[in-house]
Amino acid sequence: MRARIFPDYEAMSAAAADAVARRVSEDPSSVLLLPTGTTPLGMYRRLVDLCRLGDVSFAEATFFNLDEYLGLLPDHPASYHVYMKEHFYGLIDADPARIFVPDGAALDPEAECERYEAAIKESGGVDVCVLGIGRNGHIGFNEPGAPFDSRTRVVTLSESTRLVNAADFEANRAPERAITVGMATIAESREVLLLASDTNKAKAVAAALEGEVSESMPASMLGHHPRATLFLDEDAASGLGQGVAG
Ligand code: F6R
Repeated sequence: MRARIFPDYEAMSAAAADAVARRVSEDPSSVLLLPTGTTPLGMYRRLVDLCRLGDVSFAEATFFNLDEYLGLLPDHPASYHVYMKEHFYGLIDADPARIFVPDGAALDPEAECERYEAAIKESGGVDVCVLGIGRNGHIGFNEPGAPFDSRTRVVTLSESTRLVNAADFEANRAPERAITVGMATIAESREVLLLASDTNKAKAVAAALEGEVSESMPASMLGHHPRATLFLDEDAASGLGQGVAG
């Protein structure tokens, strides 16, 4: 796993967008596995701009999302369906038939997880996975302790994750559970880009990059990945080289 450090959020986001756009231009039928959250917003903005300028087309690409809250209808304002439509899928030339987001409202969530994992497999597997990172090191909604051999499944969110995400919900209460793509599925992606910005990610970034590869720090799994790159702004990189990784 290597790290690229950029002066600020905009530079980090632009570099990540350019890396994704390059990959899709080389192979227009690329399969992408994508995150939500605050961090990738700048990357999505630039990808939308590049698409509008005609510099990249997503018409033949396939999209999977990493996760969705359990119990939310796809039109719930805090759902990742709505987030992706508003910030990316609804603004580019994507083919709706090749956009997949886990159905958090599925009557049988376990069956939905199996269906989702099978759809990833049928697509030929993930070419480029873009990740954010939680303050506790989670990737997707794989919280600390998530087995490295896990697949798409229903998970319980940690209290700290629910607190960070609470503001998106009425009464400040985030759902307790979610569907997430598993660690093994992420690890099998041919290329992984992990984006981090802000000092509140510095500790997790340092532990992921400089600490031991351990299920207690999910992002550290990328240490074993042949093509994983961390895209960091200076704030997110501020904990590196200080022996905090432990
Ligand atoms: C969201 C996801 C999460 C976020 C992480 C960071 O789809 O998979 O792992 O990437 O919680 O979120 P932000 O970017 O909001 O700090």
